[in-house]
This record gives sequence, C-alpha cells and structure tokens, in this order.
Amino acid sequence: MTALVIEHLEKVYTDSYSGDEVVAIGDVSFTVERGEFVSVLGPSGCGKTTVLNTVAGFADPTSGTVSVDGREVSGPGPDRGVVFQGHALFPWKTVLGNVVFGLRMKGVKRREREERGREFLELVGLAGFENRYPHELSGGMRQRLGVARVLANEPAVMLMDEPFASIDAQTRRRLQEDLTRIFEERRPTVFFVTHDIDEAVFLSDRVVVLSPRPSTVQEIVTVDLPRPRTWKAAVDHPGFRETVARINGLLAVDAVRDRDGAGDQESDGSAADVR
Ligand SMILES: Nc1ncnc2c1ncn2[C@@H]1O[C@H](COP(=O)(O)OP(=O)(O)OP(=O)(O)O)[C@@H](O)[C@H]1O
Ligand SMILES: [Mg+2]
Repeated sequence: MTALVIEHLEKVYTDSYSGDEVVAIGDVSFTVERGEFVSVLGPSGCGKTTVLNTVAGFADPTSGTVSVDGREVSGPGPDRGVVFQGHALFPWKTVLGNVVFGLRMKGVKRREREERGREFLELVGLAGFENRYPHELSGGMRQRLGVARVLANEPAVMLMDEPFASIDAQTRRRLQEDLTRIFEERRPTVFFVTHDIDEAVFLSDRVVVLSPRPSTVQEIVTVDLPRPRTWKAAVDHPGFRETVARINGLLAVDAVRDRDGAGDQESDGSAADVR
C-alpha cells in the first residue's frame, strides 16, 4: 500500500522583495510505501523543506499533486504529523500534556489517552518525565518528546525536517539509533529531510537524491542494510559504506556543476555533509 505519492511537483516562489520568480522545485516525483522510511537528500537550497511543506499542506504546489492515502493534499491535516526542528512544543503543558494533546483534539477519553501517552513516552525513553515541563528537558529530550507526540497520533505519514540538525554530534548519533529502534518496533511511514548522507543511509529504506535548484530527482537509492540497525554494525557493513560513497559521488557531480557556474548554490562538495 502506498502512503504518499508526489507526482510532478513544481514550486515557483515569487521573491517578496524583488518580485522575481524563484523556481525552487523543477519536477519531483516519488512515492513512500506504508511502513517505509524514505529520506530526501540534496544540496542546501534545493527545495527539500519546500517538498516537505507541500506534503504537510503548509505550501501549495505550483503544479503537480501530492496525495496521502489516496487523497490529494489541500492543507494541513491530522493524517500528517510534523516533527519540527525547533520542537514546537507547548511550553505551558507538561511532557504528558504535550504528548496527549492531539489525542485530546481527536476526542480520545482521558484514561485511554494518558495510557497511550505514557506508552509513547516509554518508547522514546522519557518515562518518569511525564510531569516535567519542556524547559526542564535537554535539547535531545525535547526532540524525543516531539517524536513521541507525533507517533501518539498515529499519522498516515510522519514528516521530519532535519530534526537533529541543531543537536551535538554524540547525542545526534543516539537519537538516530533511538529513531531507528522506534521505526523498527512501530513501522510508522516516515518522510525525512536531511543534508547528512550518513544519517540518510543509516535511517532509510530508500534515499531520494535531489539535484540543485530547480530540483529534480537525480536518483532513488535503495539502502541494502539489514535491520535492526546500530551505528556500530552499520559502519562495519560494506553495504553502508558503498551506499554512502555512491550518494557522495552523485552529489559531488552537483558540486562541480555549481563551481562551474551552472547552479547558484554555495557548495564545497564536502564528503559527509552536503551543506
Ligand atoms: N517562502 C518563500 N518565498 C520565496 N522563496 C522561498 C521561500 N521558501 C523557500 N524559498 C526559496 O526556495 C528555494 C528552496 O528552499 P528550501 O528551504 O525548500 O531548500 P532546502 O533544500 O530545504 O534548503 P536547506 O538545506 O538550506 O534547508 C531556496 O532558493 C529558497 O530561497
Ligand atoms: Mg530546509
């Protein structure tokens, strides 16, 4: 069963200062199957966030369509749960209050929603923190709370835009392993945006590699890496290294094209990080 279908998505922005048109997305098509983890990877400014915002319903396509569970997206909805980079938690609500908020909106009875809320807090390693407030948590814990809040609503598609970008490297590795374990246990459908090649390969079943703006799908790379995954096992796995090298190669071609003036992004073509 296909959860998300993006067909010939094009997005043109009008610059509010100059009035010039900016073609952010040229022509992007791909699908995400139910229970699949798909990442979108590409150089800075190629339109990754724009693709995600269009799926979330925060932005309208200029042309093309986005469908979730067979219904065309025309605005935000509870069938798509967004984990924001800046957490976007309710500071006045407790940890448990944040997790059960969506369930409350759906009319789930208090006992059931608190039970579900606790279950998801346990899943992300936040059991015992139910009555704390977001400001009492570390950045990594807040990010895990963001994940729990979206998972508790059981959306058709979970959308994540560089959720670990502002977190220190060591914590980031742990959160990536946590997310992998949660994915393996629950099998949500995940659409993940990143510019970190290692992260995309470690987490994903498939990686959609975008070209520089105006973006098109350069290649969809299948990750042949067994689950359950850990960083320790992944870095020793030849499949992991080969896939990272292959994507590096694809993006390095872009970097050369940029340097030669064919694109207008800034890119140094560095190895593990596209930015
Ligand atoms: N609301 C907007 N109005 C005008 N231009 C926009 C708007 N949002 C994005 N853009 C432009 O569209 C292009 C794609 O932006 P987008 O944020 O989707 O890229 P990205 O791949 O997510 O970049 P990054 O890796 O830096 O997060 C950029 O050139 C950006 O300046
Ligand atoms: Mg972005």
